[in-house]
Amino acid sequence: MVNNRSLVVSLAILLSFVPSASALAEKPAVDLAEGARLFEENCARCHGAGGAGDGRDASKMLPRPRVLTDGVYKFRTTASGTIPTDENLYKTISEGLPGSRMPNFDKLPEESRWQLVYYIKSLAPSVFTPDQKTEVLNMGRDPGEFKADMTKGKELYTQLGCNACHGAAGRADGPSAPTLVDQWNNPIRSADLTYGWNYRGGSEPRDIVTRLIAGIDGTPMPSYADAVKTEDAWNLAYYVHSLQVKSNWSRTLNAAAVDALPESADDPLWQRAERTDLRMASNYYVNGELVPARIIAVSAQALHDGKTVLLRLQWHDLNETKEGTPDALAVALMADARAKWAGGSLRGWPSTGSPELDLIYWAAGWPEAKETAGLSLAAPEKWNGSRPTSASYADGEWTLMIRRPLQPEFEKGVSLMKNGRVGIGFMAWEGSSNEQGRHRSNSSWIDLVLN
Ligand code: HEC
Ligand code: HEC
Repeated sequence: MVNNRSLVVSLAILLSFVPSASALAEKPAVDLAEGARLFEENCARCHGAGGAGDGRDASKMLPRPRVLTDGVYKFRTTASGTIPTDENLYKTISEGLPGSRMPNFDKLPEESRWQLVYYIKSLAPSVFTPDQKTEVLNMGRDPGEFKADMTKGKELYTQLGCNACHGAAGRADGPSAPTLVDQWNNPIRSADLTYGWNYRGGSEPRDIVTRLIAGIDGTPMPSYADAVKTEDAWNLAYYVHSLQVKSNWSRTLNAAAVDALPESADDPLWQRAERTDLRMASNYYVNGELVPARIIAVSAQALHDGKTVLLRLQWHDLNETKEGTPDALAVALMADARAKWAGGSLRGWPSTGSPELDLIYWAAGWPEAKETAGLSLAAPEKWNGSRPTSASYADGEWTLMIRRPLQPEFEKGVSLMKNGRVGIGFMAWEGSSNEQGRHRSNSSWIDLVLN
């Protein structure tokens, strides 16, 4: 205790002399004892009492909570391999890191956030030495959306090998993607560049330029500071930005009425059909560790012709797996849309008290999907109903169409009616991660409405 205390005091003295890039006047004086208290209260359960990344909940997340004693930071405006600015750390603490379990602490008073910044620096004293200065990189000039050279950006994307990790269309399915590990030897996935909402360090062109020039230390994502001129970094950033798809997070999937259902998944009719996006979450453990969701979103569209509803479902998967444990998807229907069983999600299904569901299951390589009403996902190949499907995989994305008659052919099947509303949800399995049964990603329940 005595030792710790004197360390804290001497660091406090050292840190208070660290010159900073800006806004020193607005920052409070260093109070490491207060920082330590705030850290214990807000951060230790993940980052560990001493900041070694070994908090009680740490093993349940990927990416892991950062080992703060290493002083390696991903989201900086400073050169690769150098320390972040205080403002970089302040921003992370204030805004959190989407796509990871790092929460935002915008409810903490600003003064407390600064004390946390000082305190986490003090956890890596050999990295944050008192005489260190930080230098914010020059990101060049933003050319603006209309002046950015997209053709050049697109060329650079392949020339610089972004596709090797992020995939040709940015869906995180590049050939190197399945084997990547981070500095702490944990598996890591390349960012899915089409999911702007899931970028950890911000999805605007300026954020992307910063990632390109500063790199993401501790991960396989290198710095391109020496490989591109800043002007080209902007062209590339605008191109990457253009890969982001606009999501429609809605609690309703509207099926519009059409005279004739489209035969193919690229029929122009689909471009006009409303699309609903659903976030997916996992709920299973391997060796006591929660496995993060492999499939993080499903996009759904639906049309009907008064007799049949046609679903078009799309999701991103690292690679196409048909053999062994195949990629798979199930549609769950529930007659009473209001019931929204178990917190509104399919995560815990089936468990004690679960309702029987109307399930349509498809696996990669199957010519048609199978349907049943029941309480288990066992042996779907033997289920009673057969539903015509068409499926294709391209550039990291599955597109699946399933036809379902409005009226079920068996007892307890869900019947769909014009202007009616039933519950619909999805479960998805990534074959290459050996997912099957309970090992899967799950959506929440939303309403399927036949207009
Ligand atoms: C629920 C768990 C959790 C809590 C609580 C938590 N963190 Fe984190 N934190 C994470 C995870 C997970 C990461 C790693 C994200 C990544 O590597 O992309 C992280 C990363 C960080 C980073 C690294 C940012 C970078 O640029 O690399 C900082 C700084 C940080 N946390 C500070 C804090 C502070 C300060 C607190 C308390 C006020 C806190 N965290 C509370 C889970 C948590
Ligand atoms: C060797 C593999 C690899 C290469 C090559 C690579 N990246 Fe990455 N990239 C990654 C990984 C892994 C991450 C995720 C880092 C993390 O999760 O902390 C990432 C993250 C990103 C992010 C950050 C998204 C966010 O969450 O904020 C952007 C933007 C990005 N990469 C763009 C690019 C571009 C553009 C190129 C080509 C110039 C490129 N990357 C090259 C592996 C790579």
